[in-house]
Amino acid sequence: KQTEDDPSCPGPLIVVSNRQPYRHEYEDGGGTNAAENASDRSITVDEPAGGLTAGLDPVVQQTDGTWIAWGDGDADFDVVDEDNCVDVPPDEEAYTLRRIDLSEEAVDSYYYGFSNRVLWPLCHGFPDLIEDRTNDFEWYRTVNERFAKAVADHANDDTVVWLQDYHFALAPRMIRESIPTGATVAQFWHIPWPTVSTFQHCPVGGRILEGLLGNDLLGFHVDRYVDRFLDCVARYLPAATVDRNRRIVRYGGETTRVVATPMGVDAESHARTARSTDAETFANLCSEYGIPDDGTIGLGVDRLDYTKGIPERLTALERFFERYPDWRGDFTFVQKATPSRTEIPAYQHHGELVRSEVERINRRFGTDDWQPIVYTEDYLEEAELCSLYRHADLMIVSPLVDGMNLVTQEYVAASVDDTGDTLLLSDRVGAHELLGSHAVTIDPTDVDDFAERIGHALAMPAHERRHRMDVLRDRVFDADLDRWMTTQFDWIRRIHTGSESQRTD
Ligand code: G6P
Repeated sequence: KQTEDDPSCPGPLIVVSNRQPYRHEYEDGGGTNAAENASDRSITVDEPAGGLTAGLDPVVQQTDGTWIAWGDGDADFDVVDEDNCVDVPPDEEAYTLRRIDLSEEAVDSYYYGFSNRVLWPLCHGFPDLIEDRTNDFEWYRTVNERFAKAVADHANDDTVVWLQDYHFALAPRMIRESIPTGATVAQFWHIPWPTVSTFQHCPVGGRILEGLLGNDLLGFHVDRYVDRFLDCVARYLPAATVDRNRRIVRYGGETTRVVATPMGVDAESHARTARSTDAETFANLCSEYGIPDDGTIGLGVDRLDYTKGIPERLTALERFFERYPDWRGDFTFVQKATPSRTEIPAYQHHGELVRSEVERINRRFGTDDWQPIVYTEDYLEEAELCSLYRHADLMIVSPLVDGMNLVTQEYVAASVDDTGDTLLLSDRVGAHELLGSHAVTIDPTDVDDFAERIGHALAMPAHERRHRMDVLRDRVFDADLDRWMTTQFDWIRRIHTGSESQRTD
């Protein structure tokens, strides 16, 4: 029998996400022709590497649940059954991963189109980048329908459905209408929610809101996004009843509770990995990328996305090297960037801009044996990344807008050496609400002030840096991934068992 403090899920869990937790790939057997290769090939499995999929995986394992996701990558006919299901993890077979195969056209319109050329710029407040992809909305709807149908195939009246992110704004209402009333539908929106004035740029705003209000529970990272969501509902769905105090919306026969539950990282695991990295891992990184191993190191780790503020960060670094010439040769900034959504022109242009800015700044200040900016798009193993986190003296997280920014928390968790590392943090990311008071706050667009703050952070006395990092570490360990799950499931349980009244009258 579940108690109020029970952190687990109150029923069989179905998780729905765009990205899958395990990706099977074929490795060629090394034969000399296709037929030989096919018979010799072996299957390799990419396990959840971090963030959401890695965090949810053990939870779904405990519930003997189902995970439904887009089956990108190789078609693994040897391991899936006729319903496209595979038991994972490979040797434990703890739960069912059901893959939804999508045609190239569907991916083009649902993922690259409506999700990432309309909803992504919309929610991040870049209305100028919203493309006219109205036709893609039909595919977005069709794909949401396919996921909703897959959920209905697996659901019973005790099921908890937990949808992740902006790829599934329409599915909740479709699911709600096709599964037993005893089941609970919840969703977590991992990206920001825009203001009313930005939301007006969404060509199908009403449909998006109606879809989301099919959820019994809708979670955002911070209060600001919850308030904006309620503002949008009040403005664009006049038939909805919005109870702002209790954060409950009634619309179309459904009642939705809207909550702010900031996501965290598995801090213990990052600290453990950082501690287990040896000096050799770092020395190898230094020699491979030309990082001086005896100077001061700054670090940036981002997906190559126009929301991350990388060009502004580079300009701030340029100003910094102009104004603080003594740091030339002694301070090196390492920028790890992960190419992302590269089929979208806005991402291609952004990548080109970042690379050319790095080259320009390095030409301007670099010498024969030192480059101010070490830039790489290489894939780094988890241990290598944690080694960089551990050895970096200063981390810059400067998105123009970001739902939470889990990299910030990973860096803090992996700063295990008590050397007083410093965090420079944009005030436009969700993580700022948790960590802003003990980070050095920056406005990512005010590049002059930004440059000054880099100088200020580097000059900060050691005892102050240590104190700040101690506080940051306490907060990151306290508000970790486990805490997020517990809070989510606590809400879900209250709704599922009926102990939390959703009624507004
Ligand atoms: C953001 C989104 C995630 C997404 C990730 C990577 O963090 O909230 O849902 O998976 O970016 O983007 P991608 O498009 O490569 O999945």
